[in-house]
Amino acid sequence: MKSQHKCIVIFALVCCCAVLIALIFSAVDVWGDDEDDIADGKCSSACRVVLVENIPEDLSIPYKDTVSLAAGLHDLLDQAHRSVEIVSPWWALNSTEYESKPPQAKQGEILLHQLMSLQSRSVSLKVVSGLTNSSELRVLTKSGAEVHYLNMTALMKGQLNSSFWVVDRKHMYIGSAGMDWRSLSTMKELGIIIYNCSCLVLDLHKIFSLYWQLEYKEFLPSTWSKKLNALYNRDNNLQLHLNDTEAKAYYSSSPDVFCPKDRTKDLEAINRVIQKAETFIYISITNYLPMLNRSQPKYWSRIDNMLREALILKKSIKVRLLISCWEQTDPLTLNFLWSLKALCTESVRCSVEVKFFIPQKQSNGHLYGVNHNKYMVTDRSVYIGNLNWVGNEFVYSAGVGVVISQQVKNNSTVVERMKAVFERDWHSHYSKTIQPNKIPACSMHTASGSL
Ligand SMILES: *[C@@H]1O[C@H](CO)[C@@H](O)[C@H](O)[C@H]1NC(C)=O
Ligand SMILES: *[C@@H]1O[C@H](CO)[C@@H](O)[C@H](O)[C@H]1NC(C)=O
Ligand SMILES: *[C@@H]1O[C@H](CO)[C@@H](O)[C@H](O)[C@H]1NC(C)=O
Ligand SMILES: *[C@@H]1O[C@H](CO)[C@@H](O)[C@H](O)[C@H]1NC(C)=O
Ligand SMILES: *[C@@H]1O[C@H](CO)[C@@H](O)[C@H](O)[C@H]1NC(C)=O
Ligand SMILES: *[C@@H]1O[C@H](CO)[C@@H](O)[C@H](O)[C@H]1NC(C)=O
Ligand SMILES: *[C@@H]1O[C@H](CO)[C@@H](O)[C@H](O)[C@H]1NC(C)=O
Ligand SMILES: *[C@@H]1O[C@H](CO)[C@@H](O)[C@H](O)[C@H]1NC(C)=O
Ligand SMILES: *[C@@H]1O[C@H](CO)[C@@H](O)[C@H](O)[C@H]1NC(C)=O
Repeated sequence: MKSQHKCIVIFALVCCCAVLIALIFSAVDVWGDDEDDIADGKCSSACRVVLVENIPEDLSIPYKDTVSLAAGLHDLLDQAHRSVEIVSPWWALNSTEYESKPPQAKQGEILLHQLMSLQSRSVSLKVVSGLTNSSELRVLTKSGAEVHYLNMTALMKGQLNSSFWVVDRKHMYIGSAGMDWRSLSTMKELGIIIYNCSCLVLDLHKIFSLYWQLEYKEFLPSTWSKKLNALYNRDNNLQLHLNDTEAKAYYSSSPDVFCPKDRTKDLEAINRVIQKAETFIYISITNYLPMLNRSQPKYWSRIDNMLREALILKKSIKVRLLISCWEQTDPLTLNFLWSLKALCTESVRCSVEVKFFIPQKQSNGHLYGVNHNKYMVTDRSVYIGNLNWVGNEFVYSAGVGVVISQQVKNNSTVVERMKAVFERDWHSHYSKTIQPNKIPACSMHTASGSL
């Protein structure tokens, strides 16, 4: 009898093991031998790059060698032959449920229909989302999409703020815009699309696979599958060509626990970009707030310290911050920015300039032109990410970033183009210098500039 019990127990154990192994392997999605392609040098690193922006129609800001986001994403979908993988914080492309909306809102519906028609072209659509009850994702599922739910609340008590696309594992988009009709109409967004770049994009696909495997998980694995290890990072950049110009690139990711072996964390990437800068650091972000805010508010010094160190140690570095002034701007933001400015005096020959980008108000009271951008450009590199420079986002939320470094070359590189885009915004009349001892009433978001 006893040995019979033993047998049953052992049999049960073996079954459990088998199921576990099966689960582990089923989680690893295999589609061709990507790694072999890289080893054999079969992947492509002769890439095309396009900067995409959404600039609301009523804003008198011209596109600066950039393409409209809607056109860029449509083109990306046109290129798809096998698969489209999308991570987005929101799904609100169908604007018909909203009342007052500008005519460009139509772009959202066009994009939604284009996504719905992928199946008829035998292109698979995979989506990772933090939304459980989205009518739009239900519609997409009905038209053949596979949707995986990522429970960031359970994993990090945070949010999924990642926003990127992987198309056929060789084209990609990363940027500030999510799948929201506002991102294609009333918000000011910036992103990057890279084509024909499998060497680089396979690495972004690995980040997508990591999310994909976390479906409904309530805790993170103690070790990640080897397949998810990063291919490139801040110490091992991919050498590639962007529009026939030499460049180096890699991805970064947040939060820290989402980074398997060799993956550079967003903060490490930002740190490296700041450290390598020699003459200027231009930053365009929605919010700047070095605070952590859970049970108790805490000072979160990581990025603030990086900037302070750069200002003190680098001879005559010029730092410019372009922040949004809108209802979500925390009044403390100003205190931190003033304290940065105070570091530069005649003896420390650095310079910090801060401007607020002021959104405009429509006659119906709606805001347009909130600067949703999340990037930094220096004389060497550009970092384009998904997160605001706020403690809570880097510590608890999921996001990705891409870093590209290039030698200066006659105003033709991505880095130089980004600088031009920054300067355009900086000198536009929507950007206002903050005045000492005058606290702008951002929450009232007045167009006339109450600064
Ligand atoms: C968009 O929303 C409207 C109103 O809720 C609905 O009737 C329509 O079916 C939606 N379109 C799609 C493509 O889901
Ligand atoms: C899902 O959303 C619909 C409206 O869009 C609402 O009626 C329904 O109660 C929601 N379900 C859950 C479980 O939240
Ligand atoms: C996500 O995780 C939280 C916390 O564990 C849980 O309460 C919630 O039900 C989960 N959501 C889903 C859709 O599983
Ligand atoms: C990508 O490469 C293919 C084949 O070489 C080419 O037909 C296509 O035009 C390229 N796409 C872009 C955006 O350069
Ligand atoms: C901190 O929490 C308070 C209340 O929960 C909220 O109003 C504030 O916006 C939060 N700040 C940040 C930085 O998250
Ligand atoms: C992150 O996601 C949350 C919830 O969707 C949103 O409130 C927040 O504004 C997002 N942050 C960014 C940087 O998009
Ligand atoms: C730089 O660009 C200008 C026009 O944009 C062109 O005339 C000039 O030849 C270029 N110089 C080099 C070295 O490529
Ligand atoms: C690049 O463009 C700026 C103006 O946008 C100009 O001042 C500068 O001389 C140009 N540099 C080169 C190398 O063409
Ligand atoms: C790269 O080349 C494409 C045309 O092939 C052009 O549309 C795009 O603006 C170029 N990108 C940059 C950053 O110069």
